[in-house]
Amino acid sequence: MPDLYAVIGNPISHSKSPLIHAEFSKQTDQNMRYEAILAPPDGFSVAVEAFRKFGGRGMNVTIPFKLEACKISTRLTERAAAAQAVNTLALDNDEILGENTDGIGLVRDIVSNLDFIITGKRVLLMGAGGAASGALLPLLEHQPKMLTIANRTKQKAIELQQRFAEYNFVIPADYADLAGHEFDIVINATSASLNGKLPSLPPCIFAAESLAYDMMYGSGPTPFLQFARQQGAVHLSDGIGMLVEQAAESFLLWRGLRPETGPVIAMLRSET
Ligand code: ATR
Repeated sequence: MPDLYAVIGNPISHSKSPLIHAEFSKQTDQNMRYEAILAPPDGFSVAVEAFRKFGGRGMNVTIPFKLEACKISTRLTERAAAAQAVNTLALDNDEILGENTDGIGLVRDIVSNLDFIITGKRVLLMGAGGAASGALLPLLEHQPKMLTIANRTKQKAIELQQRFAEYNFVIPADYADLAGHEFDIVINATSASLNGKLPSLPPCIFAAESLAYDMMYGSGPTPFLQFARQQGAVHLSDGIGMLVEQAAESFLLWRGLRPETGPVIAMLRSET
């Protein structure tokens, strides 16, 4: 009998996780099955419990259940506790371990795949919701020179900065505050691209040789990446690499093996 895994969310039919994990398990010769589960908006914990009773060993959790997954976890990793959100569950008889691999996936994509150094750099993180919160600790662990959190609603950026107050190089801002400042790495963790929108960034925020990174991905460049290109950002990336890297971190937690991500990223890129 193969070990059972699943991604759970609502909607779920668009999810690339089953494809990614099928590639990982083929590559590493694992006896496992990975499916997609659509849970009703108020049926997340029931669906997880049913999957666990059925022998399920682990789950990826996506929109809109990452906060609820944090609540139903009986134990949280340090990263999940810092993010206050869970995208990976490891299930066994008496424990639900909650982990968050989104931020580490982002950082691995930036550092290992895109060859960008975060340490000592000026980083701008746009957004102060779940995606930004998940990214913060792994980014801060790389000791950027400073990390500015910019959000349309500045108060939420302030609250996020206060949660990480021990890192004294984090600055909360709104978009207007960014005028006159330059950044080496600009990460879009807002959901604006989903609606074809762009946060109201002032011009000239991209330093020479800077990286513009959008956690979203789609068939063409997102509005943020288009703006970045017009503004002279040389290195542009969407979130496909992050998607594959966060999946690889989940796979590592469940199976104790790190799959190769490069071929899977290339495969997804050739499809979009
Ligand atoms: P997620 O889990 O994807 O982070 P979220 O927690 O709902 O989703 O957060 C969405 C983020 O995108 C927020 O930071 C939001 O800004 P506000 O807090 O000011 O609402 C940001 N966002 C969404 N649409 C945006 C837009 N058009 N311009 C700028 N920021 C936007």
